Amino acid sequence: MVEEFRVPIVERQSVPPGELFVRRAGQGRPVLLIHGFPLTSLMWQNQLKDGRLPFDLITPDLRGFGQSSPLPSEWTVADFAGDLVDLLTALGIDQVVVCGLSLGGYIAFEILDLIPQSILQLVLCNTRAAADDETTARGRRLMAERVFREDARFVKDAMLPRLVASSNYDKELIPNLDSFFDQVKAESIAVTQLAMSRRRDFVDQLNNIRCQTCVIAGIDDEITPASEMKVMADRIPESSFHVVPQAGHLTPIENPAEFNAVLLKELA
Ligand code: MLT
Repeated sequence: MVEEFRVPIVERQSVPPGELFVRRAGQGRPVLLIHGFPLTSLMWQNQLKDGRLPFDLITPDLRGFGQSSPLPSEWTVADFAGDLVDLLTALGIDQVVVCGLSLGGYIAFEILDLIPQSILQLVLCNTRAAADDETTARGRRLMAERVFREDARFVKDAMLPRLVASSNYDKELIPNLDSFFDQVKAESIAVTQLAMSRRRDFVDQLNNIRCQTCVIAGIDDEITPASEMKVMADRIPESSFHVVPQAGHLTPIENPAEFNAVLLKELA
C-alpha cells in the first residue's frame, strides 16, 4: 500500500519554510528515490507498487513539483538537497540508500556532501557528475527567460521526445508523461533550470566516494548517454554499472522490470 503524507520543512538560513508531499511504501532498508525534472514522485510508481522490493521506499515531490510547496524565486540544487536532509531528519531516518534520477542524481551528490556518514549506498540513474558547460547553461537560461515571457507550453515539445527511447514512444506511458508537463508550474521550470545551470561539479570527487554505488544507464538515453555514465562509474571506487535495455532517459518508467531487478540485486 502506498502511504501519502506531508512533512513540514523548517526555515534554514536563507531558505523559507515549506512542505514536502511524500509517497512511501514497503518495509526494509530506507531508500530515498529522488525524481527527475520536470517530474514528480509519481515517476516512481512502478517501484512503489512492486511488492517484491524489500525496502522502505520514500519518494518526495521536490519543492516546486507535484503537491509540494512552490519554489522561492532564488533556489539551488543544494537547497533541494537541504530539503531532503530535513525530510530524513523529520522521518527519524539516519541511515539511507539515496537513489536519484538525472536532476535527482545532481541532488544525490549534494546530499552525499552534506551527510556522507548517513549514506548506506548510492544509486545514480541517468545522471552526470559534471556541471553544465556554457552551451548547456545558456540553453537553460534561454528556456527560463522564455517560460517567464510566455508560458511553459513549449517545454513539452522541446523535452518530451528526448526523454524516452523512440521505441517506447507509442506506448501507454506517454499519456502519463504528458500529464507531468501539463501540470508543472512555469515558475518551477524556470527556477529549476537556473538552479541546474549553476550546479556544482562533482567529477573530481568521484574517486572519494566511499559508499557502494550503483550506476544505471538507459541504452538509448540521449540526454545522459550510457557511454558517459560508464566513465563516471569507472571513477567511483566501489561501483557497479548496469545498462537497462529498451529504455532512454527514464529507465524506472520505461523498463521497470529490469530497473527493479537491478535494485533488488544491488541493494538487497
Ligand atoms: C532530468 O531528467 O532531470 C533532466 O534531464 C535534468 C537536466 O536537464 O539536466
